[in-house]
Amino acid sequence: MAYSVGVFIGSLASDSINRTLANVLFRLAPKNLELEEIPIKDLPLYNRDFDANYPPVARQFKDHIARVDALLFVTPEYNRSIPGVLKNAIDWGSRPYGKNAFALKPSAVIGTSPGAIGTAVGQQHLRSILSFVNSPEMAQPEAYIQTRPGLFTDDGEVTDKDTEAFLREWFDAFGIFVAKVHGIEGVKKQA
Ligand code: FNR
Repeated sequence: MAYSVGVFIGSLASDSINRTLANVLFRLAPKNLELEEIPIKDLPLYNRDFDANYPPVARQFKDHIARVDALLFVTPEYNRSIPGVLKNAIDWGSRPYGKNAFALKPSAVIGTSPGAIGTAVGQQHLRSILSFVNSPEMAQPEAYIQTRPGLFTDDGEVTDKDTEAFLREWFDAFGIFVAKVHGIEGVKKQA
């Protein structure tokens, strides 16, 4: 049985290294996870005036979150936090009050940066947000990927064997985490 995973990419840049990392992850996904991007670039800036009547693009976005079994966040760190475009998307998904699309949706966080700490601080901010919107997050292993030129090819290959092995292990752990969270749900439904 495969679980669908909605992928959020936190950068809109045309040459985003995080989009490149996401391409790598599409290639390395374990057999029990099927990845699909949940695009965020067309969402307007969230404003709670919209709560009474979400525009179609935001409804489709929330429906997409509702359809998938799990979420994967691949994001840069901006000023030791997450890019505003990603926070905007999460705000849309979490509202109106009482209709939070993230509730009990298992998630994982990963990111890459040229900096030595590989998005570690941004990821901590994202984890805090995901806790508040009640998304059970895979706590371990953590994945802080420092990019260097040539580490990933444009078609999603990893040129360093240790990095590829690490990414595979990390992803296998997420596959197990998703199955465990859904397994618990299944038990609850039977009770
Ligand atoms: C950055 N960058 C950056 N890097 C980092 O390691 N920690 C940080 O806090 C920041 N802050 C930051 C703010 C802003 C506004 C920009 C534009 C950039 C550098 C960043 O890691 C680098 O530009 C990456 O290439 C961004 O990822 P994408 O867009 O290529 O996926």
